[in-house]
Amino acid sequence: MRIIKVKSYEQMSRQAANIISAQVIIKPDSVLGLATGSTPIGAYDQLGKWYKKGDLDFSKVTTVNLDEYVGLSGENIQSYRYFMEKNFFEKINIKKENTFVPNGTAKDLVAECTNYDDRIKKLGGIDLQLLGIGVDGHIGFNEPSDCFEKSTHVVTLHESTIAANSRFFDSIDDVPKKALTMGMVSIMQAKKILLIANGKQKEEILNKALYGPITPQIPASILQLHPDITIIYSEV
Ligand code: GLP
Repeated sequence: MRIIKVKSYEQMSRQAANIISAQVIIKPDSVLGLATGSTPIGAYDQLGKWYKKGDLDFSKVTTVNLDEYVGLSGENIQSYRYFMEKNFFEKINIKKENTFVPNGTAKDLVAECTNYDDRIKKLGGIDLQLLGIGVDGHIGFNEPSDCFEKSTHVVTLHESTIAANSRFFDSIDDVPKKALTMGMVSIMQAKKILLIANGKQKEEILNKALYGPITPQIPASILQLHPDITIIYSEV
């Protein structure tokens, strides 16, 4: 486990973008596992800038996102598909057909979850998984629970997650109560993991996750078992 402490959100974003770009340069057909939330926006922006300068090529890259809200279509501005299009995919030369986000409007959500895992398997797994962390220790939308969920699954979001994510919605009542999320197998089988976090409010949960007992009550704690994980943290 490598822990890199930096001094600002900008530095965190730049370092994260550096690691992601190194991955894409070394393996142009990388499978990148991607995350949403406010934390990775700066890294996506930086990658977009480096692409524009001609330093990066995403034409052979495939992406698989961690999660999506149930009931929101990709056109809904609150959906994670829309988030990815606006914050990253539109800024680079990735082929739309090579970008995967779970479909939160699938008629059969259970089948959607199984298909999502099959897709990741067919792709040969994830080369580099980018993660944020929720204030309750969730990764993707793997919420604190009595057991680690292995596969992609439908999850009922915790009150604290709904409250934290309500800042992106007009009102808390608009936040979907359910989501689809990749499970721990796909995340833990990623060849490399890059977890980024910023802000004092993440410090306590990050310490618990990285140094405390490995427990499904703090889903991110399972990452202690990963052989190749880098954490970049900025206090501000
Ligand atoms: C959401 C996402 C997570 C993300 C978390 C933290 O719940 N599903 O993947 O890590 O929010 O968000 P933020 O980066 O905005 O703190």
